[in-house]
Amino acid sequence: MSEPLVKTEVRGRVGLLTLNRPKALNALSNEVIDELAQAMRGFDADENIGAMVLTGSEKAFAAGADIGAMQGWTFMDVYKKDYLGGNWESLKRIRKPVIAAVSGYALGGGCELAMACDIIIAADNARFGQPEIKLGVIPGFGGTQRLPRAVSKAKAMDLVLTARMMDAEEAERAGLVSRVVPASRLMEEALDAAATIASMSLPSVIMAKECINQSYEGSLSDGMMYERRNFHALFSTEDQKEGMAAFMDKRKPEFKHR
Ligand code: CAA
Repeated sequence: MSEPLVKTEVRGRVGLLTLNRPKALNALSNEVIDELAQAMRGFDADENIGAMVLTGSEKAFAAGADIGAMQGWTFMDVYKKDYLGGNWESLKRIRKPVIAAVSGYALGGGCELAMACDIIIAADNARFGQPEIKLGVIPGFGGTQRLPRAVSKAKAMDLVLTARMMDAEEAERAGLVSRVVPASRLMEEALDAAATIASMSLPSVIMAKECINQSYEGSLSDGMMYERRNFHALFSTEDQKEGMAAFMDKRKPEFKHR
């Protein structure tokens, strides 16, 4: 049997997904994205999993969409198939949190894939960029949409129009990345963060993720209402009673719904 393009592993309550096309620096062919979407949906449906970590190799998280595959495509090819819709777009419907653990290059579709995750933890050797303009195209999976929201319009313009890469420190300063850690500690840190999330009550985790995404995509007043209604709804769960009782009793909560 041939090697999977995305390796999966279960670590406690965390689902680990590793892009596995190292010779092509994890270039994201449609086949890679199909396998990734299927594996993520599997972890999303698995009651024993509370959060996921997506990673690549030490040299590359992913160096972008597959240029070799795209090279000969015409407008009709990409338009009719809605290239970068389908399984690419389906990743945003994953309900459990996904942490991108980024080492090395996260370029083009690789940077966009990391931004489609909920948290980015970067190794100190990580490099982010949207170099599509050098190929005579533009970013197609969120580089002109998610990146300005994450790092400001000015920095997104700079990165997208000049194709320059930014290092992990600059990415953290700009707000793209939540933490930078030494490369040797990347997986430990990402898996620990995912395990912490997976130890919480799942309804609160999912509602928190949905509310933050609502704030990211919609208006402030709609977001405030959405958050308040979800906050109210959590008072119908046993985990709210347990979480607050445990605090008052000065003990650790034993959540039922994980
Ligand atoms: N697609 C296909 N193959 C790729 C690739 C990609 N995006 N990136 C790297 N590779 C392949 C190379 O062709 C090379 O293959 P061979 O060994 O068979 O020649 C192998 O990976 C190693 O790459 P390099 O020899 O280039 O490695 P390097 O260390 O010299 O350079 C790099 C690393 C700077 C990341 C360079 O590979 C590079 O610039 N890659 C392309 C980055 C890019 O332009 N990404 C955007 C793609 S378009 C896109 O993503 C659209 C979108 O918005 C979704």
